[in-house]
This record gives sequence, C-alpha cells and structure tokens, in this order.
Amino acid sequence: MQLSPFKLERYFAKYEFNTEYLLCTSDCEAMPIADLLALEEGAAERFQHVWLGYTESQGGMSLRREIAKVYATTQPEDVLVFSGANEAIYLFMLAALKENDHIIVHTPHYQSLSEVAKGLGCQVSLWRAREENGWALDLDELPQLMQSTTKAIIINTPHNPTGYLMSRGDFDALNTFAQENNLLLFSDEVYRESEYDMKDRLPAAVDYGPHAVSLGVTSKTYGLAGLRIGWVATKNYDLYEKMASLKDYTTICNSAPSEFLAEVAMRHRKKLASRNLEIIKNNLSIIDDLFVRHSSLFAWARPKAGSMGFPKLLQGDVEIFCDDLVRKAGVLLLPGSVYDDTRNHFRLGLGRKNLPQAVERLEAYLSNRKS
Ligand SMILES: Cc1ncc(COP(=O)(O)O)c(C=O)c1O
Repeated sequence: MQLSPFKLERYFAKYEFNTEYLLCTSDCEAMPIADLLALEEGAAERFQHVWLGYTESQGGMSLRREIAKVYATTQPEDVLVFSGANEAIYLFMLAALKENDHIIVHTPHYQSLSEVAKGLGCQVSLWRAREENGWALDLDELPQLMQSTTKAIIINTPHNPTGYLMSRGDFDALNTFAQENNLLLFSDEVYRESEYDMKDRLPAAVDYGPHAVSLGVTSKTYGLAGLRIGWVATKNYDLYEKMASLKDYTTICNSAPSEFLAEVAMRHRKKLASRNLEIIKNNLSIIDDLFVRHSSLFAWARPKAGSMGFPKLLQGDVEIFCDDLVRKAGVLLLPGSVYDDTRNHFRLGLGRKNLPQAVERLEAYLSNRKS
C-alpha cells in the first residue's frame, strides 16, 4: 500500500519539540503520571505492581468495562482498544474496505481519515464543511455524493480543525441515512465530552446501532496523549473481529502500564474533562479578545466544542505567516495547507495552559511587524 506523507504530522515533526509555544495543538494540557495516580486512593501503589507481560489483545476487560461506560448501550465486548486512535483508523479502513470501494469523508479532515482508503485503492468523495455556514455540513449534499460502490461515511464531530459540532437533528438524520443506505458510519468522536455547553453533546454513534463505529481516545478531551490508548466501540461484530484480527499485524496488544493508567483515567474522566474544559474556556476568552483587537487581520468562527479553531488570515499568505512566526517568535500555528485548505486558514489550539503567554508573544510579533 502506498501512503502519502501525513502533512500535519510531518509539520509537527519539524517543530513540536523545539518550539517554545505550541499554539496549535489538538490535545489538551497533559499531566505527570503522579497527578493522574493521585486521583484514586491506592492507584500509585497498584501501579508499582503492574505486570509487564503481554496484555489481552482486545484490551483488558477492566479497561474495556470503564470505556463502555462512556456510551449509553455498550458492553465491554463492544469495545476494542488500540495504541492510539490513529491505529484504530488505520485498521478500520483495512477491515472495512477493499480496492475500488467508495467512501464519503467529512472535510477538511485529519489526513488518515481519507489517506488509508486511498492507499487501498478506494475512491474518496469529500463532503465539505461550509465556512459561510459556521463550518456546517449540508445533509442535502449526501445523496449526490453517493455511488453504487459507497461503503462508508466518515465524519468527525466535534471537528478537527474547525471546532464544529453537528446539531442533534443532523446527527440523527445522518445515522438514518447510513442505515437506510446500508453504509457504515465511522464517527471520529475523539473530541467528544469537550462541548462548551453540555446541552449540545451528541449521543455517540455506536448507540444508534450496528451500522456505526465510534472512535475514542485518551489524548484529546482527557489530555493524556502520551498513554497512546484509543478504541472503537461498535456492535458490528463482524467488523470488530476483522479489526481485532488485523491488530495482530500492527501492535498485537497495548502497553500494560498505559492500560493501567488509562483505566484510572477513564474512571475519573469527568474530572479530567472538566479540568481541561476550564483551561479551554479561559483560553477562548483571551482568543476572542485577540481577534477583536485584530479584526482586520483575522476572521474567527468561534468553535462550539473541542480544543481548537480554524481562523482565517485576511492579509498575506498563511504558510509564509506561520513560517515567519515560528522562526522569529517561537510560536507555532498550523497552516491550513496541511489539511489541503486553500483559503488561508490556520489551526489554533485552545487546550494548553501557556496560551496567554503564547498570545502575548504573537501580539509582540504582530506589532514588531507593523513598525
Ligand atoms: C480527528 C482526529 N482523529 C484521530 C486522531 C488521532 O489521535 P491519536 O494521536 O491520539 O492517535 C487525531 C489526532 O490529532 C484527530 O484529531
């Protein structure tokens, strides 16, 4: 299989570990192991005794039991654990698709959501988020995107990079459309439980029926990217078995210390999510003010959920802007071109505690540029 370079990951590879301010990350603020273990009495002691052998390939039962509680109708048997969400995306595509199949992909998107299918020789139609409509998807476009070979719809809500959150009505209609057309719905929900208003939280796709696969991870809402623990939840047991069997060719099983820590994290996930939501909300008000002060330079569609937004640079070329900013001011933004966006957007991350200092540095850079 031929896979093109993952543009976003290659961009991060260049800057992530040598730049002072990462103002474009998608994950929330992480924490040391000690802080996570402190959430639960006895966890630090138990961690010392974690057995460093192979683990159960589908994820340990006690971890899957905690993950199953994220959803309304799932059992541990519906949960398959991976080394991060990206492994799950890769193996979903391998399990569900074959050459010449067709998929419809919510776009702009995290590259692996289309790239693996392309590598398998599938056709990909883009279902475009409409900026003029708050980055919404138009359900009326779906029938026109359908082909006789369409196998799956791939969506991501809350959305990377725009922070768009689908309405309940649209999500219901999307699930009905997938069911009626015998399609799989792969629902990337890695930013779920980070909605700014609880009322906006969507049900998980897995709870609509066996046409759906919900993707989750500890990296984003819960701020624990270094655990590398992701999962799918699905009641499509044929697909579940295929993915489980393909995992024998990637990681076989997950890291035992990570599974232990992820289980603690999932037991306390509401606390972790609300800690991170507080950081996001504080940062959002700083960003709102920033964009009011610089309204001639940036256009800003405020997100409804998640740890990022996708503002537009109104003057100059965004790639040159990001490149100059990181070199002169040590502040990393992510040009939209890594998402094949051609309309001068960039990704802005909201989940890091040092955002206020990063914004100060950005503004100093902007005023130096003027003078
Ligand atoms: C929408 C989306 N899906 C999946 C992933 C992969 O998550 P992980 O890096 O934890 O495997 C990311 C990471 O940025 C993402 O934004």
